[in-house]
Amino acid sequence: MVWASMLRFMLYWLMMHAGDVFLGSDACLANGTTRSFLCVGNKVQLMPYQIPKNTTYVEIRLTQIIIFPRKAMSSLHDLKRIMVSENGVLQRIEAYAFANLTKLEEMTISNTGLKVLPDFSKVQSTAFEFLFDLEDNMHIELIPSNAFAGLTSGTITELRLTKNGITDVDTNAFNGSRIEKLFLMGNQQLKRIHNYAFLGAEGPLVLDISHTAISSLPENMLRRLKLLIAKSVYTLRWLPNLEVFAELTQANFTYPSHCCAFKNFKKNKSTKNHLCNDSTIRNQEPYFFEEHCKEVIESLFFHSPHCLQFPFQPKQLSRGHLCSEVLHPSLTHKPMHTAPTNVR
Ligand SMILES: *[C@@H]1O[C@H](CO)[C@@H](O)[C@H](O)[C@H]1NC(C)=O
Ligand SMILES: *[C@@H]1O[C@H](CO)[C@@H](O)[C@H](O)[C@H]1NC(C)=O
Ligand SMILES: *[C@@H]1O[C@H](CO)[C@@H](O)[C@H](O)[C@H]1NC(C)=O
Ligand SMILES: *[C@@H]1O[C@H](CO)[C@@H](O)[C@H](O)[C@H]1NC(C)=O
Ligand SMILES: *[C@@H]1O[C@H](CO)[C@@H](O)[C@H](O)[C@H]1NC(C)=O
Ligand SMILES: *[C@@H]1O[C@H](CO)[C@@H](O)[C@H](O)[C@H]1NC(C)=O
Ligand SMILES: *[C@@H]1O[C@H](CO)[C@@H](O)[C@H](O)[C@H]1NC(C)=O
Repeated sequence: MVWASMLRFMLYWLMMHAGDVFLGSDACLANGTTRSFLCVGNKVQLMPYQIPKNTTYVEIRLTQIIIFPRKAMSSLHDLKRIMVSENGVLQRIEAYAFANLTKLEEMTISNTGLKVLPDFSKVQSTAFEFLFDLEDNMHIELIPSNAFAGLTSGTITELRLTKNGITDVDTNAFNGSRIEKLFLMGNQQLKRIHNYAFLGAEGPLVLDISHTAISSLPENMLRRLKLLIAKSVYTLRWLPNLEVFAELTQANFTYPSHCCAFKNFKKNKSTKNHLCNDSTIRNQEPYFFEEHCKEVIESLFFHSPHCLQFPFQPKQLSRGHLCSEVLHPSLTHKPMHTAPTNVR
């Protein structure tokens, strides 16, 4: 009896004081040299409580952890990267689980059972650039208001929300964030991006909505977009007045007609300035050239036979009368500076 309880005490002591090492290679392991902390395998069922304070990288993969509790990682002030992947049973990441991680610059949460987007508002990173990968979480359906506010005061260079179960992006979803590239690609049920989803946000400059079921674009964010990728979005039949795409330089669309519309529209725009005729302008004034002279739109479809004879017959198109709608007469004859009018 005495031996048994002593043994139990020793085991307990070991777990308390040398927990990570004790758990062995199929569980959690800290590496003091690389300052990384790895939890791998289905023997891990609880969030470990003894992560060395100087850890810069945490990886949690293939575990059976169901909940990331409050303050799970909030004492790790040096943390730069978090990687949570292939945790199918993970149901919830509580608010403050990731709090005060001022040095955090990269976070991946992929292939989990999460049903709602965790509260990231307490992360408060001050890293200059931030990369956020939230991918393959089949049960996350909604991007709510202020979803990424408080995550970082820097720029989210890439926000990858690809292949989740997202059906809806709510009003003010990106409020309080500065985003360079936003990927919503592969959310096949995604029908709606609220027209005010980007209210209070800066960016994005790049938007990928390929393989979604979106039927209209949130117009008030299109003005600053430089690249739009909308491949296999068969529901997107209508484009807003092309004048709202003020900064667009490249686009990939499902429908050839959309690209033809852009080609023609932009071409006319870019021949506006007579200085562009000066063959030395490209070398001498590269910024001016970039702004005013470049053949701005490129696309897969631009060399398609559809675009050769313009305007082509709506009948030539496989789906709907696209060009006749997209290229409203007001577009072709009005000068550039007129107020945008909605073609729909
Ligand atoms: C820690 O990582 C370094 C570099 O990858 C490796 O050489 C070393 O063996 C690791 N230590 C442990 C205890 O795993
Ligand atoms: C990090 O802290 C652990 C103990 O908590 C220590 O063993 C390790 O040497 C430290 N690593 C560095 C790079 O300071
Ligand atoms: C975060 O930092 C603030 C101020 O330094 C502190 O009051 C708060 O308790 C911290 N939160 C967590 C979860 O550590
Ligand atoms: C947008 O974010 C700001 C802070 O960045 C906040 O004050 C405001 O209430 C938010 N707007 C909405 C509609 O949630
Ligand atoms: C547009 O689509 C083509 C063909 O799929 C691809 O080669 C090209 O890289 C795409 N461009 C962008 C900007 O995605
Ligand atoms: C630019 O040059 C082309 C021929 O190279 C000419 O047809 C066109 O009128 C010129 N445009 C202007 C604005 O000078
Ligand atoms: C572009 O300009 C040509 C010739 O000036 C004109 O025929 C065509 O309708 C214009 N297209 C658009 C979309 O403005």
